[in-house]
Amino acid sequence: MATLWIDLTTEIGRIHPNIYGHFAEHLGGVIYDGLWVGETSLVPHIHGFRKELVEKLRAIHPPVIRWPGGCFAETYDWRDGIGPRDKRPETVNWWYNDDGRTESNQVGTHEMVDFCRLVGAEPYFALNATSKTPLEGRNWVEYCNMPKGATTLARLREEHGSPEPFSVKYWGLGNENWGGGGAMTPEDYCEKYRTYGILCKSVYPEGRYIACGANDSIPGWTEEFFETYNRMYTENRRPPMYGYSLHYYVPNFGELGNEKSFTEDQWYETLRRARGIEPFVVQQAAMLDAKAPGNNLALIVDEWGLWHRGPGHLETGDLFEQESTMREALVAGITLNIFNNHCDRVKMANVAQLVNCIQSLFLAHGDQLVLTTTYHVFAMFQRHQGATAYESRTTGEKISYTFQGEEQKIEHMFASASGKEGSLCITLVNTSLQEDAELSLEVFGGQVGQTATVTVLRASEENRGNSFEEPEAVMPVTEEIVWREGVPTITVPRASVVQVTTEYKLSDSEY
Ligand code: AHR
Repeated sequence: MATLWIDLTTEIGRIHPNIYGHFAEHLGGVIYDGLWVGETSLVPHIHGFRKELVEKLRAIHPPVIRWPGGCFAETYDWRDGIGPRDKRPETVNWWYNDDGRTESNQVGTHEMVDFCRLVGAEPYFALNATSKTPLEGRNWVEYCNMPKGATTLARLREEHGSPEPFSVKYWGLGNENWGGGGAMTPEDYCEKYRTYGILCKSVYPEGRYIACGANDSIPGWTEEFFETYNRMYTENRRPPMYGYSLHYYVPNFGELGNEKSFTEDQWYETLRRARGIEPFVVQQAAMLDAKAPGNNLALIVDEWGLWHRGPGHLETGDLFEQESTMREALVAGITLNIFNNHCDRVKMANVAQLVNCIQSLFLAHGDQLVLTTTYHVFAMFQRHQGATAYESRTTGEKISYTFQGEEQKIEHMFASASGKEGSLCITLVNTSLQEDAELSLEVFGGQVGQTATVTVLRASEENRGNSFEEPEAVMPVTEEIVWREGVPTITVPRASVVQVTTEYKLSDSEY
């Protein structure tokens, strides 16, 4: 039997709720048909937003939603998305070349703020730092946040139905500026960041401004960006920076099978690549410590997910639409456990994307809505939000497999543990396709209760997921258990994600 050790004497930090954040881009079917059905739709809606999706999303406490892109942000003019909807222009969407869709601008700033309020999330807006001017970027911040009646833009907001400021706190100044966002060098982007940051701060000093960082194919962007940043600015002239963003996808260009069909080795390889986000986060945090010491910058992983593209991808829906199976569930479980275990540095993350795109929580078309396996993992992990993360580790052999002629290994088990209001939440992922795992729970520095609530997400076959044909093929099952003979032991079935909650107390207080 393997062991799960939890050390209640070693706190990693508070798990920022924003780690459980989302991303909704004007891409394929994310906004139109996904979130937005329109105010005249026969599909039940709230102010034009799909009612069932609003309710299901609200139920899992989404803390933050990034919008409007992604790449879409880099040609977005926020003025196209305000004012009477029937007067808004039809524009070229960034993704036009991929799916031939234009942008109706029916969902703009007011609608997105409304959606965030409906589901209880904070908006995180990505500002166009590629094809608009810093002044126009600043004007968007002003439009959203200036007090009622204070300026012409605040009065324009009022004219459009919102006298009170939206108080949009999180602003990304650009997106992938090393790629689709202008193919800039770190030096070019650093210049841009300076101007945008200084101007935005002048109108909204309390804003949390986030710089565009690296993805795993260009890790060195970070060092070069901060070398320029340090060279260019003395401390008191630096633009504000709350956080620094990273993107990490597990792309599948066919070598990992497709959404529904994959071999055992492709399963393990997918999960091994997903776990690669941990060394990437550690590496990037070390670079920030070395190049921007004392700045206490938050790492913001504002795009992550398993992305099937290229040959083999089942192109059955809108652009980048894909089904989730247990493989996506495990990718989500591994990734979220890693974020919990690095919550001292990772302060926000946004899974790509909310609906009908890449690793979605929902599939939605017409009057149908499906909750994917990824949705269920977010539901099971939500108890970590705002809790204290404790050090944990599991014993046990790694699993060996061969991929493209090379011997590889992957951990059998991924875990994280956190405590809040006397309740300990443990989330586990068993990567093995063959073996259920029996874990004996060893807790240092405290005690757990006699009973536990255990929720298991598993499927008869690992390539099963929820679809329009079978919307409830994979559902979490919850049961109350009493530890056998008083010894805390957790069964984690093969290829499953498990959540355990139990009461706990630290040693220095009486149990
Ligand atoms: O999420 C899809 C796209 O992936 C985003 O628009 C872009 O930022 C990234 O390359």
